[in-house]
Amino acid sequence: MDSREPIASQPGHLAEKLFPILNICQKMSSERDLSALLDLIAKEATNLMEADRASLFLLDREKNELSSRVALGSEGILRFEARFGIAGAVLATGETINVEDAHQDPRFYREIDLRTGYRTRSLLAVPLRDYQGEIIGAFEVLNKKTGVFSHEDEEILKALAAQAAVAIETAQMMEEMSRHRDQLQEQIGHLWKEVEGRFSTEHIIGTSQKIQAVLKVIDQISNSSVNVLITGESGTGKELAAKAIHYKSPRARGPFVALNCAALPEALVESELFGIERGVATGVERRTGKFEAAHGGTLFLDEVGDLSLGAQAKLLRVLQERIIEHVGGRKSIPVDVRVLSATNKDLETEIKQRAFREDLYYRLKVIHIQMPALREIREDIPLLTNYFLASYCREAGREPLDLTHEAMSALMRYSWPGNVRELENEMKRLVLSVAGRMITPADLPEGVRRLGVTTASISSSRRPLKEAVAELEKRLMLEALEQSRNNQQQAAAALGLSRQGFIKKMKRYGIKAPL
Ligand SMILES: Nc1ncnc2c1ncn2[C@@H]1O[C@H](COP(=O)(O)OP(=O)(O)O)[C@@H](O)[C@H]1O
Ligand SMILES: [Mg+2]
Repeated sequence: MDSREPIASQPGHLAEKLFPILNICQKMSSERDLSALLDLIAKEATNLMEADRASLFLLDREKNELSSRVALGSEGILRFEARFGIAGAVLATGETINVEDAHQDPRFYREIDLRTGYRTRSLLAVPLRDYQGEIIGAFEVLNKKTGVFSHEDEEILKALAAQAAVAIETAQMMEEMSRHRDQLQEQIGHLWKEVEGRFSTEHIIGTSQKIQAVLKVIDQISNSSVNVLITGESGTGKELAAKAIHYKSPRARGPFVALNCAALPEALVESELFGIERGVATGVERRTGKFEAAHGGTLFLDEVGDLSLGAQAKLLRVLQERIIEHVGGRKSIPVDVRVLSATNKDLETEIKQRAFREDLYYRLKVIHIQMPALREIREDIPLLTNYFLASYCREAGREPLDLTHEAMSALMRYSWPGNVRELENEMKRLVLSVAGRMITPADLPEGVRRLGVTTASISSSRRPLKEAVAELEKRLMLEALEQSRNNQQQAAAALGLSRQGFIKKMKRYGIKAPL
């Protein structure tokens, strides 16, 4: 029988091949690794087609090159321009090519046989098409064991090519996706390192005993998830400490969610903390609360002393039961959240005045960290000053600034009611405003400068005692005002004066009360 007759007239042969073809398809569809898949297709096609070899050429569109690793087995990848050879011709025409003796065919690319040391005789090639019908490569079987490739062989190879193309595309996509995933994971790893570095305890500056004690506690609790209450005046680094605690903890790669309780109107506290269902009131959209957002991580409740008693009761319940309910919802949602809280209020006083719940206080204050006011750690002022100057100079792209001895003394003597934040802002301002390389007392704000002058400088100026005493008295009064944040009653008390006496002296020395 003529082997080139259409398949329809040879039902027996095709039926014979049907089972092995289905078998191959099944194997192909479960292989996800591209190179293993290409090996599998080549091996199975070689057997099925009773050929000596099979090669798959994949088109690299960017370079317009064909590449094949199968023809060379383990010897490496064969690459050539996509216009060459029978594979190139299949690519250009999209048609099946069946030749009895390749070396007699002008399209044959002899270079391949030369490079591989293989001798090609009969050759059957079909295009590989993706699901949109675009050609993605060519599929060749070489050297039919007996005779040449038949018309039936052409149909079988086409059917096999259609299945192979789908499997190859899937495997290529999987490879690309896993490459992307690896790249993303690597980038995320770098970003995490940067984030953790940025919030590490290394950025809490200070060699004073009080700062070192804070760092020690943060270090000691770094493996646990206990609740921590951080107290201290505004600007002492409470939030800085909270972030350091989070990024050193086992929850570092979970979220850090901050909520400023003081900034919230009473009516919103609950929905901010616990979330709200859609339609609770007209126009209300569903929102997740901070507790849910912090799941697996840390919730930082800033100014926790400002929570209303109602909100305190609800917060306490969540801490006890570890479940939340949306406002207007009925579902209980379990949450795993560590709570760090901060306040500049004295909560024990608040408790006595029944403004803060004692039971909540003990839940929040498993560990207590007290951030020192800057005037309590004056020895850290030079270190902090230089740290901020260096970092803001770097940011502004200017040469590092230095301070004269007098200017540094003034900074160390000033009371810093705004604490480290005030010092930081002052350095930021100086970096932008000082033209030269040196900061002198004249560059400092009035308040910092006048308190920064020593009694030594008063007595050394050789003048009548009365005048020097007056000068000293004036400075002590200014300092007392500074420290009491201009509360005249407190300033007077600090100096052992009556309020009236203090005000009289203010008039005498021309000290104006701030507006
Ligand atoms: N010990 C410190 N070392 C370095 N920077 C600090 C230190 N304490 C505070 N700061 C900086 O001062 C500013 C105010 O700190 P923050 O944590 O917001 O204070 P608080 O929450 O107590 O008001 C921040 O820019 C912070 O980085
Ligand atoms: Mg703060």
